[in-house]
Amino acid sequence: MKRRTFWISASLLTTAIVLLAGFWLLCKPCITNTTANINTNYPSSIDTGQIGSSILGSATNNSIRINTLAEKGMSVFVNYGIKTGSYDNKTDTITSQSGEPIATNITGLQSNTKYYYQVNYKESSESGFISKTEYSFYTQRSTGSTFSFGVQGDSHPERAGKMFNADLYNITMQNVAKTAPDSYFTMGDDFSIEGLIDKKQQTQSAVDSVYLYQRKFLDVIGANSSVYLVNGNHEQAAKYLLDGTAASFPVLAAKARNNFYPLPTPNSFFGGDTQQVDNVGYLKDYYSFQWGDALFVTIDPYWHSDTAVDNTAGSDSTSKGQRDLWNNTLGDIQYQWFKQTLENSHAKYKFVFTHHVLGTGRGGIEEAKLYEWGGYNEKGVWEFNTKRPGWELPIHQLMVKNGVTIFFQGHDHLFAKQTLDGIIYQEVPNPADNTYSTFNQDAYTSGITMPNSGFLNVTVSDSQVKVDYVRSFLPTDESSANINDSVGYSYTVTK
Ligand SMILES: [Fe+2]
Repeated sequence: MKRRTFWISASLLTTAIVLLAGFWLLCKPCITNTTANINTNYPSSIDTGQIGSSILGSATNNSIRINTLAEKGMSVFVNYGIKTGSYDNKTDTITSQSGEPIATNITGLQSNTKYYYQVNYKESSESGFISKTEYSFYTQRSTGSTFSFGVQGDSHPERAGKMFNADLYNITMQNVAKTAPDSYFTMGDDFSIEGLIDKKQQTQSAVDSVYLYQRKFLDVIGANSSVYLVNGNHEQAAKYLLDGTAASFPVLAAKARNNFYPLPTPNSFFGGDTQQVDNVGYLKDYYSFQWGDALFVTIDPYWHSDTAVDNTAGSDSTSKGQRDLWNNTLGDIQYQWFKQTLENSHAKYKFVFTHHVLGTGRGGIEEAKLYEWGGYNEKGVWEFNTKRPGWELPIHQLMVKNGVTIFFQGHDHLFAKQTLDGIIYQEVPNPADNTYSTFNQDAYTSGITMPNSGFLNVTVSDSQVKVDYVRSFLPTDESSANINDSVGYSYTVTK
């Protein structure tokens, strides 16, 4: 080989190695988002163990909704009252026409009151009703009350063996059930339909099976706690996938979500997304409500961005490198709603939930200065005024101005607590990761990080907010240092 040819070849090889190394470093944080190892082999129909299982939702000052899993022809009524074992009231009986879940609305309740209830069901082949265990719920707490709510991060049931273990998820649910919080928030990546998109299994029953599988776990806690879902990137419940038909994947996902989970419809009690989507109706993807001294607000960039916010369904995650993150947005309507919701609230504590800052990336406060969340581009140039005309402030600055107490996010698969400008940025751990990893820890350059798994039990009182990270361990993984249902970390916020 001539000397000149040798040096050209050597420099080309060096360039290729540098490019590959750079590519790896850039995309390393994305790798856990790939669709590899996806298990979509969930049962396609309700199994007998789930029949009659109920989940609470949309609790207000005078009502609550109970969603009960049913078979075709099954009938349900609910007894309820303010004394245990003694029910003064009974709902009408509702029959499932084609096997759809039965939504029972209980109305006319007193606020700030504990109610006991019992679901009664009768399958079409049976002659008598079966009464389920008695459970309880609270109506809206009054200001000054002490109550708790729970939060879990990404459950990722499609990642069995990688960061999901069904037995551990059940243990976490049992730990939550012991505390019986008034409400329970899941932070997204709980209903991945990407395996179905890859396989082109574009049917309602296939998508339903994903949403139904999660009920096996959330039903353990949902009988005592209103469940509130937050969309993640893997839900792919996103506008960019709409194709104008009733069979597009986001439509199927939204219908399954609303069918199996009693999420809040915007009304005089719940703020939320009042736009209706063809073939769906209300999305119920973002919403707000007051409970005791706290305002709860969930926001969702996925439905409202014109492009994929994180990974594009059905494509390699490496395509994320070319994105313009100004495309990730709540949209004008949701932003103005969010602003008014924060401004109009006089609650002592304000909690905001979304899957992640900007719906993508890794880290908490490290990402908070960027794009519509903080106003700057990656090069540190302020672009907010030209990119978001009509918006008063970026999301972070808006939350600071309006006294948000804790911003909850998931997506990064670890416990991380940071503070920026007086707001706690709380990354919520996975509930079912039996590798007990601290994924993406290097993205958090300050604050406290801890490994999975578990949930956050948040107690709100007149004087403070207390956040307990309740750890979960499989019996075979317990030790003197790793005790299931113990508090691994705790902090308080006072105002
Ligand atoms: Fe995620």
